[in-house]
Amino acid sequence: MAEYVVEFGKDGGRVEADGRLDAPAFHRNHQAIWAALSGFLSGRSGDVLEVGSGTGQHVVHFAQATPAITWWPSDYNEQHLKSIAAWRAHSGLQNIRAPFRVDLSAPGWAAAMQQEGGPQQLLALFCANVVHIAPWPVAEGLFRGAAELLRADGRFFLYGPFKRDGKHTALSNAVFDTSLREGNPEWGVRDIADLEELAARNSLALREVKEMPANNMILVFGRS
Ligand SMILES: C[S@@+](CC[C@H](N)C(=O)[O-])C[C@H]1O[C@@H](n2cnc3c(N)ncnc32)[C@H](O)[C@@H]1O
Repeated sequence: MAEYVVEFGKDGGRVEADGRLDAPAFHRNHQAIWAALSGFLSGRSGDVLEVGSGTGQHVVHFAQATPAITWWPSDYNEQHLKSIAAWRAHSGLQNIRAPFRVDLSAPGWAAAMQQEGGPQQLLALFCANVVHIAPWPVAEGLFRGAAELLRADGRFFLYGPFKRDGKHTALSNAVFDTSLREGNPEWGVRDIADLEELAARNSLALREVKEMPANNMILVFGRS
């Protein structure tokens, strides 16, 4: 069964002196995630926002491969923001901006970030492992923000486990879902149809479903 971490560094994982945290799942999944994203991002330029960046390891890995893209990590957890900043400094990469504090459930988070000097029009938005470990209003805020920020040709990549037509795609995801809901009844593996409805309410549409290892998927949304 997939494990989940609400706060890295409190899970017994490695904590470096400079605040860099480590997500064990990053090491298992980042190559497959990059393989899926790179089909769209390679050869393009622009701004990519990551929300719920966690440790910051994904953004560093992706930024290494895309010097023409400016990466904007964000999170709302203070320890995670410190870790993202530390990974950014450790990488020495020029195409990663300082992390923004973003609470996806806060109304107007996208406009507030723009006003504070954040990205204006996104080539892409990337969000991994957030909507099932957060109440539904976080997903609502995420799609609202995506609609406000994406360029006409931009894409929103949503990674995680998802249900299809109300059914889990694997027994391990069903067990995971139960453990999530036991931890917090407002959490849980989301159904693709519910996310498509949320997308439609925000003038977005599901363009592609990419099957990923370990019964995960990447849902790719664009403007409808
Ligand atoms: C399971 S972690 C995933 C981290 C990273 N994306 C990854 O896949 O390794 C979920 C992340 O979402 C963040 N998060 C949860 N609720 C949030 C909210 N309302 N706004 C922004 N970030 C949130 C948490 O702080 C945490 O960093």
